[in-house]
Amino acid sequence: MLILVSEAMGRLNHSVVSEFVLLGLTDSWETQSLLFIFSLLFYFASMTGNLVIVLTVTLDAHLHSSMYFLLANLSVIDMGFCSITAPKMICDIFKKHKTISFRGCMTQIFFSHAVGGTEMVWLMAMAFDRYVAICKPLHYLTIMSPRVCLCFLVTSWIIGLIHSLVQLAFVVNLPFCGPNVFDSFYCDLPRLLRLACTNTQELEFMVTVNSGLISVGSFVLLVISYIFILLTVQKHSSGGSSKALSALSAHVTVVILFFGPLMFFYTWPFPTSHLDKYLAIFDAFVTPFLNPVIYTFRNKDMKVAMRRLCSHLVFYRKIS
Ligand SMILES: *[C@@H]1O[C@H](CO)[C@@H](O)[C@H](O)[C@H]1NC(C)=O
Repeated sequence: MLILVSEAMGRLNHSVVSEFVLLGLTDSWETQSLLFIFSLLFYFASMTGNLVIVLTVTLDAHLHSSMYFLLANLSVIDMGFCSITAPKMICDIFKKHKTISFRGCMTQIFFSHAVGGTEMVWLMAMAFDRYVAICKPLHYLTIMSPRVCLCFLVTSWIIGLIHSLVQLAFVVNLPFCGPNVFDSFYCDLPRLLRLACTNTQELEFMVTVNSGLISVGSFVLLVISYIFILLTVQKHSSGGSSKALSALSAHVTVVILFFGPLMFFYTWPFPTSHLDKYLAIFDAFVTPFLNPVIYTFRNKDMKVAMRRLCSHLVFYRKIS
């Protein structure tokens, strides 16, 4: 009887992996230092840039319109997105033994899918906004009303949450008994599934369908909508079209840079490649930084508003 109990306990202990080991990106000290500087710079640049956008749009009454609310919300999403994996990665870069608890791993997966899914839907809302602004300019104010924007916002967060919860529901109860080493710098679903000690083929298929479909699907939709807008712009070619074109090219750049790595992750059938690790850096650090640079700091109204805000701040400091 006792033997049986202890055997069961042993098996129980065995089947509970309480933490995972992360291998990080590289062992070489030079590359680590380079990576450390690179990621720290990009992380601070994205956080500051996006924060400036949110503050400018919130504080400047001239920018209280749908387009800027969309941009500011994208900034909020981006700040969330790059804070999920980046801080831990930066802190861990020089550690010999990098670990993450089971709970921490689940948390990372939950938030990265929730926020990432939300961002995808939000990029579609932004494409729709540009579509209305360019193809139906006379109805812009009625179609993109504040209420509609709020609806988009709620919808995209709900879709992101559902997308993430559905996947997590299948994963939290998986048994992990043996290997617990991640060849990456954060927890992601495809790698986690490979560590489970049951047959996860169906689950892997589910993840591919769920994450692959949402990324490829929204990418295709976005590309189609941008082609549609481009055709409209060309048809009514006039003075404003080059401005519209440059705004559009910015959107398309962000969309390709954001979706490219993601689509590769979830639909590439060969799990042994190391390329995805490096592409992950791209999504974690570079894309959140692009929003301020591409969408906003090239925008004239935004620049004027920031200058106005700056001079206000200086003015207040002088009189106080
Ligand atoms: C996000 O969008 C909503 C809905 O348009 C808006 O009310 C809110 O102010 C936006 N958030 C920011 C930070 O601008």
